[in-house]
Amino acid sequence: MVSPMARVPVVGGNWKMNLARSAARDLLTTLRGTLDGLEGVGVLLFPPAPWLGDAHDVLEGSSLRVGAQNAYWEQKGAFTGEVGPAMLQGTATHVLVGHSERRILFGETVWETGQKMRAVCAAGLTPVLAVGEPLSDRRSGRTEAGLRRQLTEGMRGITSMPEGFIVAYEPVWAIGTGEAATPEDAQARCKFLRGLIAERYGDDAGEAVRIQYGGSVNAENAASFFAQPDIDGALVGGASLDADAFAAICRAAAAS
Ligand code: PGA
Repeated sequence: MVSPMARVPVVGGNWKMNLARSAARDLLTTLRGTLDGLEGVGVLLFPPAPWLGDAHDVLEGSSLRVGAQNAYWEQKGAFTGEVGPAMLQGTATHVLVGHSERRILFGETVWETGQKMRAVCAAGLTPVLAVGEPLSDRRSGRTEAGLRRQLTEGMRGITSMPEGFIVAYEPVWAIGTGEAATPEDAQARCKFLRGLIAERYGDDAGEAVRIQYGGSVNAENAASFFAQPDIDGALVGGASLDADAFAAICRAAAAS
């Protein structure tokens, strides 16, 4: 059995639809300079799709990894405007799937999230599956039922846990609001998600899966999340655009 101590936390920077090309290259260069080789944490950057090639080039040979924020479920074809997972091979190692902005703003259904998960795995890329409850579920006590559905539908048809698999627990009401979950609340949800993975793929998988907390993580509150036993890093939005803040979050994870 993999001991929980063996889980290396991973911090992701989700840049969303931000930064012009030159600013993106500058941030990549700065982060490489400060974070390359940092032990005890995996660092993953999700730049906007047009800058994925730049990210690959700037970070090549470093310990920092590149992820795409989204991908379509077909590998190629007449799908104007979409990017197939196979096209990301060699540029990105990870793909974020099911971010709440995709689900809510772009109407992505749990079926579509599942399609993307299967396609990402088929392409040999590592998925980062984002799940999280809206405020309405939280208020009506449906948080766990909703998380179970997102995870079950997201993993449908995936018979063994993908190598390096990461789950990002991101309560919708905490994203971009400055109102983070309490560490205790986030811990309880992450523990619940770990249990679902263990139910589905066995205890070893439950111990090995890395579960990030996301939602208004910043340099000040990060350590309080990383001190929780079932939180293995963070998915960071706003604060990932600030090199100093993001580096501080990565260092806090490394020290946890
Ligand atoms: P935030 O975003 O850190 O700006 O709240 C988190 C995310 O959307 O991944």
